Amino acid sequence: VPVAREQGPLAGRTVLVTAGGTREAIDPVRYLGNRSSGKMGFAISAAAADLGAKVTLVTTATPPADVASRVDVVTVEGARAMREKVLEAEPDLLVMAAAVADFRPSEVATSKIKKTHGSGDDSAPVITLVRNPDILAEAVAQRDAKADSEARRRVIVGFAAETGDADGDVLFHARAKLARKGCDVLVANEVGDGVTFGQDESTAHLLRADSDEVVTVGPAPKSHIAAAVVDLAASIFTTQ
Ligand code: CTP
Ligand code: CA
Repeated sequence: VPVAREQGPLAGRTVLVTAGGTREAIDPVRYLGNRSSGKMGFAISAAAADLGAKVTLVTTATPPADVASRVDVVTVEGARAMREKVLEAEPDLLVMAAAVADFRPSEVATSKIKKTHGSGDDSAPVITLVRNPDILAEAVAQRDAKADSEARRRVIVGFAAETGDADGDVLFHARAKLARKGCDVLVANEVGDGVTFGQDESTAHLLRADSDEVVTVGPAPKSHIAAAVVDLAASIFTTQ
C-alpha cells in the first residue's frame, strides 16, 4: 500500500530517474535509437514515489498514466538534452535507468536527407558518429567535485545490461563497470536471447561500491526489481 508522501523513508528527498533509449537526430525526421522501452525507469519512478520522494522522470518514452500522475515528467530526445536535465538537477538520488546512446551522428542535417542527394548523386550517404557525453560519469564527477556534506550524501545508481563473454561472467563485467563509473550502486541486468528489453520480468544483480556483497533479484517483475533498488538506495541514506 503506497504511504503518504510526507511519511515514507524517502520523504523530503528529491529523486531523478532517467528512462528510455535516447534518440540521436540524423535529420528533422530520422534518428538513431535503441530498443529500450523505458519500463524499468517507470517502475523505479513509481517505487520512489511510493516511498514518499519527490520524483522527476527524465524520459524519451511516454510513461503510463498511473506513473505520469505521480511524478514530474520531463521529455527529452537526445543524450545531450538528457545530460543537461540531469546535471542541473543535482537530486538526492539519481537513477540512470536510461539506455543512453554511446554515439550520435556528428552532424544533424537541417532539412530531410533525400534519396537522391546532391545533383543526381544516387550513392548512399555516410553517417559519421561521435561519442556522446557519459552522463552517469559526469554526474559522479560533479558530485565528487563538491566537498560539502550535502553533496557527499547524494546517492547515484547506474544500470548495466551485460552478457558474459570470454573475459568473464555478468558479475565480472558489472563489478568492473561499477568501478569505472564511480557510482554507489550498479544494477546489472542479464541480457541475451531476447530477455529484458521490453519484457516485464528480468533478473538483476545489485552491486554496491562499498561492499563485495551482491543481491540478486528475480526472475521477477520489473516492479519488484525497482522496489529492491529503491529500498537499497533508501537504506544507504539511512546508514550514512
Ligand atoms: N550511461 C550514461 N551516459 C552514456 C552511456 C551510459 O549515463 N553516454 C549510463 C547508463 O544510463 C547506465 C550506465 O551508464 O546507467 C551504464 O551504461 P552502459 O551502456 O552499460 O555503459 P558504457 O560505459 O556505455 O559501456 P558499454 O561499452 O558496455 O556500453
Ligand atoms: Ca553504452
